[in-house]
Amino acid sequence: MQGLALTSSSSKIVLAMFLLGLAAGAAAADGRRRHVSRSPDEPCKKMTLYYHDILYNGVNNSANATAAPATKPTALSTVFNPNGTYFGMLVVFDDPVTEDRALPVAGEEPAARAQGFYFYNMKETTSAWFAFTLVFNSTESKGTLNLMGADLMDEKTRDFSVVGGTGDFFMARGVATIRTDVIEGFYYFRLQMDIKLYECYV
Ligand SMILES: *[C@@H]1O[C@H](CO)[C@@H](O)[C@H](O)[C@H]1NC(C)=O
Ligand SMILES: *[C@@H]1O[C@H](CO)[C@@H](O)[C@H](O)[C@H]1NC(C)=O
Ligand SMILES: *[C@@H]1O[C@H](CO)[C@@H](O)[C@H](O)[C@H]1NC(C)=O
Ligand SMILES: *[C@@H]1O[C@H](CO)[C@@H](O)[C@H](O)[C@H]1NC(C)=O
Repeated sequence: MQGLALTSSSSKIVLAMFLLGLAAGAAAADGRRRHVSRSPDEPCKKMTLYYHDILYNGVNNSANATAAPATKPTALSTVFNPNGTYFGMLVVFDDPVTEDRALPVAGEEPAARAQGFYFYNMKETTSAWFAFTLVFNSTESKGTLNLMGADLMDEKTRDFSVVGGTGDFFMARGVATIRTDVIEGFYYFRLQMDIKLYECYV
């Protein structure tokens, strides 16, 4: 019996070594290896980007608008607070994302595009929930990062989760700290996004 047990566990070891060998082979073929940060102070990659939301105003900005409400606020929202918390309103966007605060000038490619949606999700106050993909298609970066989280707009900063990525950001995970940089009326706001990745394949 003891002999059998030994044989079975040593064959498991052989199998494990074989599988490890396969994994190492795959990593070598791709040339990239997984890096997991040891502490919150040591992200494996970080970047600051600006998200520009130009909401369609229904009048004269159709040429420049990159976001549009897809639903109206719910009846509950308007009954509860006539001033409007927009509870239930969904906005779909394909917004430019830049490395500095300025909007891209005509014809210039932004650093990335943010493609996704937010909806207002609090009855008592104006607050939103976001889910979107940062699509990178520049000479520096090609790939995507997927972000999601609650945008508690009353807070000075809030965190979105970076739940995954592709291309240059293959299997990335991390946290994006969001700060409202500017709000101009109802139809334009800019968010600063400090993105820190804690798991990277480089
Ligand atoms: C667009 O319409 C808004 C609201 O009527 C007005 O305030 C703004 O000046 C207009 N902008 C342009 C570029 O015509
Ligand atoms: C679009 O943006 C450009 C540059 O900011 C501005 O000159 C132009 O008036 C805008 N057009 C509309 C329709 O708002
Ligand atoms: C709506 O706005 C008015 C004026 O700012 C304010 O006095 C009132 O308290 C607000 N109502 C609610 C339900 O927030
Ligand atoms: C990415 O950029 C290339 C070169 O400018 C372009 O041909 C391609 O259509 C772009 N892809 C996307 C998804 O925007």
